[in-house]
Amino acid sequence: SENGSLSIVVLGASGDLAKKKTFPALFHLYRQGFLPPDEVRIFGYARTKISDDELRNRLHGYLIKDKDASPEQLDVVSKFLHLIKYVSGSYDSEDGFRLLDKEISEHESLKNSAEGSSRRLFYFALPPSVYPSVSKMIKACCVNKSDLGGWTRIVVEKPFGKDLKSAEQLSTQIGELFDEPQIYRIDHYLGKELVQNMLVLRFANRLFLPLWNRDNIANVQIVFREDFGTDGRGGYFDQYGIIRDIIQNHLLQVFCLVAMEKPVSLKPEHIRDEKVKVLQSVLPIKDDEVVLGQYEGYRDDPTVPDNSNTPTFASVILRVHNERWEGVPFIIKAGKALGSRKADIRVQFKDVPGDIFKCQKQGRNEFVIRLQPQEAMYMKLTVKQPGLEMSTVQSELDLSYIQRYQGVTIPEAYERLILDTIRGDQQHFVRRDELKASWEIFTPLLHRIDKGEFKSVPYKPGSRGPAEADELLEKAGYVQTHGY
Ligand code: BG6
Repeated sequence: SENGSLSIVVLGASGDLAKKKTFPALFHLYRQGFLPPDEVRIFGYARTKISDDELRNRLHGYLIKDKDASPEQLDVVSKFLHLIKYVSGSYDSEDGFRLLDKEISEHESLKNSAEGSSRRLFYFALPPSVYPSVSKMIKACCVNKSDLGGWTRIVVEKPFGKDLKSAEQLSTQIGELFDEPQIYRIDHYLGKELVQNMLVLRFANRLFLPLWNRDNIANVQIVFREDFGTDGRGGYFDQYGIIRDIIQNHLLQVFCLVAMEKPVSLKPEHIRDEKVKVLQSVLPIKDDEVVLGQYEGYRDDPTVPDNSNTPTFASVILRVHNERWEGVPFIIKAGKALGSRKADIRVQFKDVPGDIFKCQKQGRNEFVIRLQPQEAMYMKLTVKQPGLEMSTVQSELDLSYIQRYQGVTIPEAYERLILDTIRGDQQHFVRRDELKASWEIFTPLLHRIDKGEFKSVPYKPGSRGPAEADELLEKAGYVQTHGY
């Protein structure tokens, strides 16, 4: 680690995201030695007036389940909790932020008396409506002013705006206060193991290099399913819908990694340059290549209007206008309250020309990357049916992480990404122009949905979603394969 102090400020410390994701991720990093207690202090900031101990008590149950904890584990939790101080204040007045700065400076003066830098990380676990004012307050009161070096960084969560215009406005407001290298736009899908594996898979394997194009690939699906509904988040969700909640950010980031060209190097800017390019190559979405759905019972949530048309399911075909992908549909699909929880990338290859086995009905080669749960990659192949007859059957080459990497703990997405923000690595964060390009793709469609020009068709909770989505998939040329 660098010498000096590291102050991590969790803004919105009493909120859901902080409790469920941010603090647990910090705890895991602490437990593994990435947050040395002589350097690090964590400051929770929120409006609620509570004491340090009250915050610690509230967090305890999210860090460890008491009943299975050993005394040693409980001791680690308690040491971690004692790195946390709480400061209460509002999000739009300087008083609270001055107090916060005072607390941080105190920690820094203890740590940095001789030499060392002051590192200040501000994590926005906040509703986006307060981003501009909070950024202003931090800039005015809390940035690192030490001559000994160090930095100030901010980590912001989606939603970054509701459409192109509002996103650009937010980017400009924050951009006037902080430079792009200080801004970490987090998309937790970029912290998932098999998402991070994508570039390795594509560019370190000779097998895939010549195949990854329109000559060989018939279609690509990127699919997200959840087996629960909006669960008490209806008020938030109804303002956004599934496209803003999942597709425009998480699935589009996955799409970039599947479809982009090879970057010049692994430098974050080189990778992000290629992501921007492929996003800019996406053609306008066609009306007949969109299916929207809403699960029955969604409007029972008292915070959702009775006549809401907000989609909880969407299937959209993206078409990439470049040499590699022209003619290959990318079917991007996401839904809540479906029959299972699963996120997959499915790459389906074309039929074999001049087939002598007449086995095409049996299935095509399909390469499946399961992001979650139970990370896996498998390739559907046609093989000879074992036995005396010469017949073919669909089978799989299967790399299941649980079996292959027994005993390896796959880090949580947030844990990895927060460590990146401390290390100053922006590879797995969304750059401003990337954000803009991704809103450009969906904004026209979103505006029409908001105006009621597209209807969400009802579907049964626990189902596969609307039948229209399966029809769209078939129309896009997907061939159902057997096995798995
Ligand atoms: C969040 C969405 O960004 O991602 C939620 O707001 C969704 O609606 C969640 O449930 C899914 O994340 P994961 O990692 O559980 O797939």
